Amino acid sequence: MLKRRLQNFDQKTLIRYLQAEDELQQELFQLARQAKEKVFGKQIWLRGIIEFSNICQNNCFYCGIRKGNQKQKRFQMNTKEILDCLKFIDKANYGSVVYQSGEATTDYFKDYLLNIVGITHKKYPQLGITISCGEQDFDFLKQLKQAGADRYLLRIETANPKLYAKLHPKEMSWQKRFRCLKNLQKLNYQVGTGVMVGLPGQTMEDLINDLKFFVDNKFDMFGIGPYVIHKDTPLGRDPKIQKWWQKNKEKNFNIFLNFLAILRVLLPNVNIAAATACDVFNPLGRIKVLRIAGNVIMPSVTPKDYRDKYLLYENKPNIDEGADKSFTDIVNKIKQAGLEPIFGEQGNSPFYYKRIYG
Ligand code: 5AD
Repeated sequence: MLKRRLQNFDQKTLIRYLQAEDELQQELFQLARQAKEKVFGKQIWLRGIIEFSNICQNNCFYCGIRKGNQKQKRFQMNTKEILDCLKFIDKANYGSVVYQSGEATTDYFKDYLLNIVGITHKKYPQLGITISCGEQDFDFLKQLKQAGADRYLLRIETANPKLYAKLHPKEMSWQKRFRCLKNLQKLNYQVGTGVMVGLPGQTMEDLINDLKFFVDNKFDMFGIGPYVIHKDTPLGRDPKIQKWWQKNKEKNFNIFLNFLAILRVLLPNVNIAAATACDVFNPLGRIKVLRIAGNVIMPSVTPKDYRDKYLLYENKPNIDEGADKSFTDIVNKIKQAGLEPIFGEQGNSPFYYKRIYG
């Protein structure tokens, strides 16, 4: 049985299905869909995402908002702008909000974020609050939790420390990132992680180890996306990588879909989000993910004026639209795909409840 072989981490099977196309791929997709629908049915949970600042202290070699990209104008939304976004989220009846930004660890940033989370929790106590603001210290994470944060997203980017070292400057440490994920678990957050699929230098073995890492470390949620080139980054400037990316992007997107399908078979009751980067490959990229493995989507609530300043990768979709259009567009696409958008529910990870309460 395919399911059993995947669950046993049978190397040959994993490599075969990671690269599957046509009928073989359909077999895998069907298995994933069954696993997902047994837990979630056709339901899709919504989170309004506010990309509130592109100021970043890090210099990841793949990311467009890296500190060293001087072409990038920087912004940070003020409290009034955040409150307007929250009003929209309330009106749209998204059950959760995601606060995402570049990484900053200054006292100024910490006070700002604590204040925003506190206000959100007081004004909208029923709203799920997710934070995605990079590596933070234990005490600050604790304060955020006390202020009302429920969940935290921090992608490990790759489970292979050697590959991690090739994609990041030496000041950044895989071990430190991993410790931060463990701290989040200690603090009883719902913890989300993920990787990019299709990174330069990434092998099938790396992807298999990513899947093992996810299972072994008991994460509750996943944000996983395809790597997309950005010209103003060290990777994107390299002509060899440019050529390689153009040649392999379709193939890699296929591997990405297979990777998510296998993850869903391995972990039926975790939350898996359809990453915005999927729509770079196809306007229905995210919907494809939701039909196979994903049960969460995060429509952008970021004001139109800021969208073209939060470009982690090239050809980011929907940067010329506002929160209203993102809302109708996504809801319509979900319905057209025969799925059911769920309003007014936080949509917490069933895996988390099992992990915490048994
Ligand atoms: N392509 C795809 N995803 C990217 N991210 C950053 N840069 C890129 C890129 N060029 C992802 C990282 C990060 C998340 C917020 O965005 O995985 O954790």
